[in-house]
Amino acid sequence: MFVHVDYRKGQYLKVLLDEVFREHNFRNEIILPGRASKNLQQQFSEITRLNVRHDNLFWYAASPSSKVAPLWVEKHSKGNPEGHCTIFGARPTGQPCGIASSVPRRRKVSGCGRRAAKRAVANHVRFLEEAGGRTLAEYWRDTGGKLEYIRRSPDDGKPQYWRAPADEQIADTVWTGTPVYSNSTQYPTEKNEKLLSRIIEFATQPGDLVLDAFVGSGTTCAVAEKLGRRWIGIDCGKLAIYTIQKRMLNLRAEIGNTGKPLQPKPFTLFNAVCTISPRYGNCRGNRGASSRCNCFSAVTSRIKSAGSNWTVISRARASWSSIT
Ligand SMILES: C[S@@+](CC[C@H](N)C(=O)[O-])C[C@H]1O[C@@H](n2cnc3c(N)ncnc32)[C@H](O)[C@@H]1O
Repeated sequence: MFVHVDYRKGQYLKVLLDEVFREHNFRNEIILPGRASKNLQQQFSEITRLNVRHDNLFWYAASPSSKVAPLWVEKHSKGNPEGHCTIFGARPTGQPCGIASSVPRRRKVSGCGRRAAKRAVANHVRFLEEAGGRTLAEYWRDTGGKLEYIRRSPDDGKPQYWRAPADEQIADTVWTGTPVYSNSTQYPTEKNEKLLSRIIEFATQPGDLVLDAFVGSGTTCAVAEKLGRRWIGIDCGKLAIYTIQKRMLNLRAEIGNTGKPLQPKPFTLFNAVCTISPRYGNCRGNRGASSRCNCFSAVTSRIKSAGSNWTVISRARASWSSIT
């Protein structure tokens, strides 16, 4: 579960989330770039606080044993375009697969790692013979960008493996390069599809069900649809419902809503209403669903009846349990 919040209530919300979803299920606080604010502070000789330029994304897992694959993102800085040579350390982590898994402590190679290491040594010998003035990075690219290399260190003769130049790195908790907001639907809190695609791809598999209980402009639904996930969106606002319906019927294939138009798939719109609302009165009791809908001038409708994707969009200030 991911909860996006800004600095105003973030700390309070974290405590509540810990209480409801359990502190041991908390995984990370991710820093997102906030909305750009005008920097007016330069006009003053004294200020009361710094400009806030970040939001928070709290991530909770279903249980302490839940695991996901590492998230690969574009490298912040391109690092060394020539790659670099590294000695085999004591820990297998952080070393190339195949070779590394078996090198560790006494720097001995065994099992399938031995075979991989021998291949990597042979690759380096071949590089020395065939390079013809090319650097190892150039040779590596020219030969398909897949081979691994082990050489003797020219300094102390110890084995070293070569780390290829990488365009990607494992994500950490600072996502400042990820755009958070967007303005394609004119819905005031619209999220950027890139942010949602990163979260959805990270935390779910194709076919999984994604729920956004405060769905707003429907970015979650739109991105889930494009990524082959099933989705449910809930919102208490009429504008949100209208915005999402229009959006889901006008999707384009790419994240960022570019590319070829997507044929709209069937989805269903349910109206649920609040059972206790000071504004509309208490709808609990003997009244049936239809009279509850009447109470809000809401219509329960089914759009293109058969299909696998469903949206439950609530105009009510309802909790998830009252909708189910
Ligand atoms: C920040 S926006 C949602 C942004 C959205 N999750 C996205 O990714 O673009 C919050 C939404 O929550 C809705 N909302 C607020 N209170 C609610 C409630 N009690 N039940 C359902 N929706 C609610 C608001 O109408 C608003 O559209």
